[in-house]
Amino acid sequence: MSPFHVTRTLPEDATGAALRADVLRGLTGTPKTLPPKWFYDARGSDLFEKITELPEYYPTRAEREILVDRAGEIAAATGARTLVELGSGSSEKTRHLLDALTALHTYVPVDVSESALVQAGEALVAERPHLDVHALIADFTAGLTLPDTPGPRLAAFLGGTIGNLLPAERADFLASVRALLSPGDALLLGTDLVKDASVLVAAYDDAAGVTAEFNKNVLSVVNRELGADFAPDAFDHVARWDSGLEWIEMRLRSRTAQTVKIPALDLAVDFAAGEELRTEVSAKFREDGVRAELGAAGLELTHWWTDAEGRFALSLSTVR
Ligand code: SAH
Ligand code: AVI
Repeated sequence: MSPFHVTRTLPEDATGAALRADVLRGLTGTPKTLPPKWFYDARGSDLFEKITELPEYYPTRAEREILVDRAGEIAAATGARTLVELGSGSSEKTRHLLDALTALHTYVPVDVSESALVQAGEALVAERPHLDVHALIADFTAGLTLPDTPGPRLAAFLGGTIGNLLPAERADFLASVRALLSPGDALLLGTDLVKDASVLVAAYDDAAGVTAEFNKNVLSVVNRELGADFAPDAFDHVARWDSGLEWIEMRLRSRTAQTVKIPALDLAVDFAAGEELRTEVSAKFREDGVRAELGAAGLELTHWWTDAEGRFALSLSTVR
């Protein structure tokens, strides 16, 4: 079997410290917010995989369609020997790229979810005996150090996860990705596109309630990790399209006036009846905006591909 390394770039207590800092800042601010990266414990990662199979959640199918159609072109344009995938999750769609990248030597999946990384990495090395898999348990917004592997490198950021970063975070993130790349390397970026509000809202408020479970899972993470006493069912799932900012916001709305205790922070947080806690933004993009954001980070968009219905885009960009 091929090599499978897992490297944790931060000690486990650093993850705990980051969660404490985010929860303290987010739940004592106005309005209350929590960063979406805390959705993804083992249960959150499983719930996300269920979301990708929902009839309403089109992004995964649309991006897969583009990858199936364009993986050969991506391979020819990049000649990648190392594929670094940020927020790789189950690496399911990535298989289309791995099949096409005939010169590939090393795959570096990067994710905060250890369970998703280990499950995906073990399956991949069993399937592909010649591929070196070097998984990184890391926060892709916190300054990555990549293993020393052969170039050219292709960095992939799929799923539209870039939309879960706020605009200033996106700018910092793209600059940090640019800094990881050398001339001859490339970035493959998945972006969900602006479309009819009813299609967008349905994708984030599915009839089976899986997205609601995913949204409330962040409360279970805070309960388990910080000893909090959130009652997830005391909150309603809310998905709203902001047509000015062109993003979906997921929120949790408190059903009643309530106080939540968070012993690890020595904190009691009051919620008014109807008060909303923002748990995620999921920005939707247009081609000009993506080109401009990449350009500001020193990357030049060279290819733009969409699915047949124009719902989702994959772009390839190179170091300027
Ligand atoms: N790329 C996959 C998974 C998308 S879900 C797909 O397209 O289907 C988003 C993934 O990003 C999750 O696996 C989550 O654990 C990971 N993630 C979210 N925020 C992260 C961060 N700050 N650093 C590293 N991984 C992160
Ligand atoms: C991972 N990310 C791109 C998903 C999205 O669509 O913003 C997370 C998600 N949130 C609700 N459903 C899916």
